[in-house]
Amino acid sequence: MTTMTTPGSTATDLHAVARQMTAGGRGILAADESIRTMSQRLEAAGVPASETARRDYRQLLLTAPALADSVSGIILSDETFGQSLTDGRSFPVAARELGILPGIKVDTGTVPCPGVEDALLTQGLDGLDDRLESYAARGAAFAKWRAVISVETLVPQVAEANAAALAGYAAACQRHGIVPIVEPEVLATGSHDLVASAKATRMILEAVFTELDRAGVDLGGIVLKPNFVTPGLDSRQVSARTVATVTYDVLRATVPGVVPGIAFLSGGHPTARVTAALTEMNRIEAAPWALTFSFGRALVNDALATWEGRPAHVSAAQKALVANCEAAAAATR
Ligand code: 13P
Repeated sequence: MTTMTTPGSTATDLHAVARQMTAGGRGILAADESIRTMSQRLEAAGVPASETARRDYRQLLLTAPALADSVSGIILSDETFGQSLTDGRSFPVAARELGILPGIKVDTGTVPCPGVEDALLTQGLDGLDDRLESYAARGAAFAKWRAVISVETLVPQVAEANAAALAGYAAACQRHGIVPIVEPEVLATGSHDLVASAKATRMILEAVFTELDRAGVDLGGIVLKPNFVTPGLDSRQVSARTVATVTYDVLRATVPGVVPGIAFLSGGHPTARVTAALTEMNRIEAAPWALTFSFGRALVNDALATWEGRPAHVSAAQKALVANCEAAAAATR
């Protein structure tokens, strides 16, 4: 099936953007927490949450000196996408001027997955075409949709429902000339072992690529954002080499080589752990895809803790962010 794109945007553009997002020794900064989650994280760091505080924090991240040396794209929430920096530029415009592609999270969160107790289904297809048209007009280069998969509740029905939604989203993005980040996250929370994570990751990735194919999605114009295959956060961890070997085996069995790039989420793991896993992944020379990061917490936690909402701490917070981004980027080279 040929991929429809808006006038002025072609499949070639989608391919080029997907490569730009994942190749060249840079990765993607996930700064798209919902208003609720961001407010909770600010409060936990001692910063009273407000629209302005959320803006100031995201401005701190985006304008960190030399961020573009290690970061190719930034994922924004709807609120931030519509906000302006203190210099008056909108976030997507400022990002492009800084050499960073602006992206937008477009799913609207989860609801209970019908028929499967405690499992979740990600929502957001209603009105998605109109929203994508608006985001594209305002400069969005890419989008993100996150499916939330728990090892405990994953059955084929949950995998298929979430995969079908991801595929519908990805096809819609490509129709609007926007590269979809396809994110089926197997949660690391809990005490499951490595084998359970591998099994669940394989099941959801198989379902995702079946549904992407069915929806006619151009795989050369997507970025896959999976979890590393690891034991649960409450379990004893394994070496970075083992994480990389098992993750690679699962990806090799499920992800076609035509996908240009894979950008991993951090999933609540410490910065050093995911950076080490990414280093080991990039030692695997046979990998057909670019392998990079799209971390959230692993990049920003230090900056948020340093900032404390104080203007005098902005520079130190930015240094903490850039240090983590540079370490992650170095892991891809
Ligand atoms: P973490 O790296 O903090 O898991 O966040 C990445 C992300 O974008 C989750 O959707």
